[in-house]
Amino acid sequence: MCKLIGLMSNIIMLLALITEIASMVEFTNVKCTSWDNAFDNFEYCHLKSVNRSFKYLSLKVNLHKLPKLRFVNFSLLKRYNGYKPFLYNITVDACKALRHPKSNPIFNFFHGLFKKHSNMNHTCPFNHDLIVEKLPTNFMNQQVSGDLKFPHGDYLFHSDWYAYGINRATVDFFYSLS
Ligand SMILES: *[C@@H]1O[C@H](CO)[C@@H](O)[C@H](O)[C@H]1NC(C)=O
Ligand SMILES: *[C@@H]1O[C@H](CO)[C@@H](O)[C@H](O)[C@H]1NC(C)=O
Ligand SMILES: *[C@@H]1O[C@H](CO)[C@@H](O)[C@H](O)[C@H]1NC(C)=O
Ligand SMILES: *[C@@H]1O[C@H](CO)[C@@H](O)[C@H](O)[C@H]1NC(C)=O
Repeated sequence: MCKLIGLMSNIIMLLALITEIASMVEFTNVKCTSWDNAFDNFEYCHLKSVNRSFKYLSLKVNLHKLPKLRFVNFSLLKRYNGYKPFLYNITVDACKALRHPKSNPIFNFFHGLFKKHSNMNHTCPFNHDLIVEKLPTNFMNQQVSGDLKFPHGDYLFHSDWYAYGINRATVDFFYSLS
């Protein structure tokens, strides 16, 4: 009996989740942090609204030492009472994932969001400054709402970029689904 009630409540929760599935994605903010200015710094990092229908994201990281950019840790957080972990928390060997895109679908999806507007459109090494230029958020909206079905709310996509085993930079993307 208890099990049955448990099952029923799970099904009801699932249905609630499904009816709440989002159809609109809105990027609300981007925040870039360098943890070691001797290693890297962000020349710029912003979302810009050109008009109501055209918003873009640009960022530029200057690298002062030839990087062994290697691991990227991602996590997704959803805001309830403050941001709480939601669904993903993974570490990716970025160089390996770029060489073998099929080996890591989540990283590949993330890379696909920006590679056409970036000079990070190749495999390792990255021995130059890193740029994402005028990435239209509309394009990201389509990708995100098309591929991932998540409930409404405010989300934070958190990424930590590691080189030589140390976290060198953090990029946070804030968006909401409605
Ligand atoms: C918004 O700006 C873009 C780029 O300048 C332009 O192509 C588009 O027509 C504009 N849209 C509106 C509704 O003004
Ligand atoms: C991020 O990835 C690095 C490299 O694999 C790992 O050493 C570190 O523990 C990870 N950090 C977190 C918070 O998961
Ligand atoms: C992800 O996992 C790491 C290592 O287990 C942990 O330190 C970190 O707080 C986690 N991040 C989130 C958002 O849960
Ligand atoms: C990467 O982008 C640059 C600049 O837009 C372009 O010249 C180059 O052909 C691209 N490389 C690949 C592998 O797509």
